[in-house]
Amino acid sequence: MCGLSDLFCEPPHSFGEAPFAQFVSVLLLWFEEHARDLPWRREYTPYGVWIAEVMLSQTQVARVVSYYERFLKRFPDVASLASASQEEVFLLWEGLGYYRRALDLHKAAQVISQEFGGTIPRDYVSLRKLPGVGPYIASAILAIGYNDPVLALEANGRRVLARFFGLSREHIPQEVVEHLASCIPQGKARLVNQAIMDFGALVCTPRNPKCSPCPLREDCVSCGREGSVGKAQKRILKNLRVALCFEDEMVLLEKSAGRLFAELFVFPWGEDTGDPKTWMEELGKRYDFTPENLHFVGAFTHAYTRYKVYVRVFRVLVRRQGEEGVWVPKGKLSKYPFPSLFRKALCLAFPGEYPL
Ligand code: ADE
Repeated sequence: MCGLSDLFCEPPHSFGEAPFAQFVSVLLLWFEEHARDLPWRREYTPYGVWIAEVMLSQTQVARVVSYYERFLKRFPDVASLASASQEEVFLLWEGLGYYRRALDLHKAAQVISQEFGGTIPRDYVSLRKLPGVGPYIASAILAIGYNDPVLALEANGRRVLARFFGLSREHIPQEVVEHLASCIPQGKARLVNQAIMDFGALVCTPRNPKCSPCPLREDCVSCGREGSVGKAQKRILKNLRVALCFEDEMVLLEKSAGRLFAELFVFPWGEDTGDPKTWMEELGKRYDFTPENLHFVGAFTHAYTRYKVYVRVFRVLVRRQGEEGVWVPKGKLSKYPFPSLFRKALCLAFPGEYPL
């Protein structure tokens, strides 16, 4: 690893900045023109969405279409599915594979009939208790079936987000999901969710993504990266956190020990593992303070040449008991040569008080 200045190559995306809302509105516009015409989109019902998502969970869209149509014709609602024999359900599933799905659907339909009066529940916890309903399918039923403002991320969606925001596909932070969900315009959850899916299936494809006409290219972290397109998720190495600990007008700094920040003064930081409160208590022991209020203020990604970091920022009001540590007046912080990552954290923690 070398110094930060050697690694740093582009500005970060951060919460509170444009890309989230922009991402949603650009995809909505794109979807108006490019949405795939699929049978489960002709009339939205939580039941139809549930059946479609279960079929789609292990099977390609093109293959699912005829199975879905046949299944819905024979079992148009929860009651007809619940009262069918297992053999008949299997018969309609034949050729689709992963037969456990059919078994679970059938059992879940019976649970819905008996415990929910035949109405598919509209809350995540109840949905997750149904046989075969994992986090994705539960979210998809809420988002697409009920049009509730949640994000349901399947493989396509994870890839689109990972590339656009420079994240790991396996670790899309909850903050990103929640922030995006909060940008869903009223009544457009099903459109936003399906826009992301279709965009991943048609434009932001696993191999050879169509970056050149992509409407998101301006803000996409992965766009135009020679050799990196399609592999953005491999570039993240670390989840970090930074704490702005302050009492009245004084803020805590630490001299960076490792090579990464080259002996500069920085705010306390570390890998983002474990409970931030525990981290603060340990820091409090080291610097003789009591953390009184820990507040998550936002997060951002930093892209470096070879990797990316996802940084969560906390503002911590403390009560100092002694003189340990380097405490600097807030007014003097702008004179410190912080690495960009820490300057960004400072701006997030004290909005409008410091220039980037
Ligand atoms: N893949 C998973 N769910 C899908 C959906 N609702 N539409 C298109 N592709 C999907």
